[in-house]
Amino acid sequence: MDEQLANKIKKIWENAKTNSPLTQKSAVCVSTIDSAGFPQSRFVDLKEIDQCGFTFCTSYNSEKGNQLSQNPKISLLAWWDHIGYQVRVVGKAVTISNDRADKFWFTRSKEAHVATTCFKQSEVWNSTVSMENQYSSALFASPTSIARPSSWGGYSVVPNSIEILKFRANRVHIREQYLRDGSSWKMRLLQP
Ligand SMILES: Cc1cc2nc3c(=O)[nH]c(=O)nc-3n(C[C@H](O)[C@H](O)[C@H](O)COP(=O)(O)O)c2cc1C
Repeated sequence: MDEQLANKIKKIWENAKTNSPLTQKSAVCVSTIDSAGFPQSRFVDLKEIDQCGFTFCTSYNSEKGNQLSQNPKISLLAWWDHIGYQVRVVGKAVTISNDRADKFWFTRSKEAHVATTCFKQSEVWNSTVSMENQYSSALFASPTSIARPSSWGGYSVVPNSIEILKFRANRVHIREQYLRDGSSWKMRLLQP
């Protein structure tokens, strides 16, 4: 994505976070494709927007991680109600570097580190009680600093297309669609 477009979306996102009434201010929906061809959606925390794309972190061995290893096609969707913006991204997921993964890992709380390291995301478990017990024991036994497991990292959604929709009460939404055109990007307006 070119610098101008990345900065435009980043500015909308910063504004959305600053004024957000939500507890989870950076949650966005990402959809991957499962082995039967069905889309699978879930929320993740958006960590960064830059020219490389839209970055989120997760376990590489999770369901989404396994799906992305088979098919990197992905979509990312945000709706920031309080500022009236929808951002819709379609592209390919690219694994981030270990350095970037480390950077994001150390922004997380100890509780999050323990929850990540004592479970295998998306695998089946038997009961909520035993899950709490597993977590409490791991938290009690945990060292001061927990290293990032190699199975945890992140993906950048490298966009092929981006739509920025400014919501309007009269439904005459302003829809700017940006499409990759070689090394540059072209914008066209879509009817609401
Ligand atoms: C608000 C919110 C934020 C979340 N953030 C993340 C995240 O950043 N990374 C992550 O792996 N899961 C996150 N989750 C959990 C995911 O929605 C999902 O349950 C998990 O990643 C497993 O998905 P999968 O089985 O499709 O791989 C979040 C859930 C919610 C509701």
